[in-house]
Amino acid sequence: MANQKAGRNKTIDTPVSEGAVYLSRCISVNKRQNSLENVLDKTILGDTFKVCPLLPPDSVDLIIADPPYNLTKSFNGTTFSKKKNSDYEEYTRQWLSLVKPLLKNTGSIYVCCDWETSLIIGRVLGEFFCVRNRITWQREKGRGAKANWKNGMEDIWFATNSNDFTFNLDAVKIRKKVIAPYRVDGKPKDWIESKNGNYRDTCPSNFWDDITIPFWSMAENTAHPTQKSEKLIAKIMLASSSESDIVFDPFLGSGTTSVVAKKLNRHFFGIEIEPQYCVWAEQRLVMAEDDTEIQGYVDGVFWERNSLSEQKSKSSDSSSASTNKRGRKPTKKTCDLEIAVDEQQAILGFGRKSEDV
Ligand SMILES: C[S@@+](CC[C@H](N)C(=O)[O-])C[C@H]1O[C@@H](n2cnc3c(N)ncnc32)[C@H](O)[C@@H]1O
Repeated sequence: MANQKAGRNKTIDTPVSEGAVYLSRCISVNKRQNSLENVLDKTILGDTFKVCPLLPPDSVDLIIADPPYNLTKSFNGTTFSKKKNSDYEEYTRQWLSLVKPLLKNTGSIYVCCDWETSLIIGRVLGEFFCVRNRITWQREKGRGAKANWKNGMEDIWFATNSNDFTFNLDAVKIRKKVIAPYRVDGKPKDWIESKNGNYRDTCPSNFWDDITIPFWSMAENTAHPTQKSEKLIAKIMLASSSESDIVFDPFLGSGTTSVVAKKLNRHFFGIEIEPQYCVWAEQRLVMAEDDTEIQGYVDGVFWERNSLSEQKSKSSDSSSASTNKRGRKPTKKTCDLEIAVDEQQAILGFGRKSEDV
């Protein structure tokens, strides 16, 4: 039986013994595939090092990879042990050399890492791809260290296969309230005037401070120790892929990449070695059939922090519409207030992910 949880605790922790229905939706890949037909929109239960060589080359538009960082960490009882830097470098080189052939010439890759692993990943990534940027994500939480600075950030490297790549800037602009509305000839200069306020859609930078890790009261939360939030993955996916594109995650974990792809009308597949995490990934994919919400992304817009009232009035403006601009049913609205309460509880020590080291 899953553990007894508090009423508002939405954490997905279905054990494998109760998740047969989800596990049965996963596939294994044991022979060479001439196309992605058999794997598209599926979770592959297997070892990325064995499965990638069986997949067809030039088939994927976007790779989002969140490999084990160079830390000693247990993934459902399978321990990834901290390696010598030279060994972790070789580990990185090995999996990058296996995913590289799968990416189309026009494709992009993002790789998540902590500050220490970042020193290695950035360098090795450059051996295979054109490195374009290093995003720093301020993760907010992290355990205090006795003789060091608290680890409150992660890096996400962005690279492409060539100079011909997708970047949908308008899809990831951040909506901000205009403090000093500037007009030319009486008309707003680069901002929008509405009955609910004045806004400007601004270019997103490579410093992301508006995304928390998933909390126990969020519908997306699972018991995976290093789960990424859907909002983080959505930003990457909206910028670097288009609808119907194919997104691949070689270290799928609890399925965040696949779930976000499904919510944003992309095709997807991912590889995960632990059956337990495959169960949660598939459970989330089933949930995504009814719930297409991505917390923090409302009606096709990323809003700046502390903008709950503006988001609410925007959503009531559009509540009469039966579909959003992507032709999907409107989603439940983000509740920043709820996140704020959860942040306080997490700071007090409830529901913290063990990623926070
Ligand atoms: C950092 S976690 C990814 C978390 C994921 N981004 C999420 O949101 O849940 C890395 C995952 O890679 C898996 N993994 C490690 N080695 C693997 C391998 N050789 N093949 C497939 N999966 C692997 C681990 O079990 C773990 O779930």
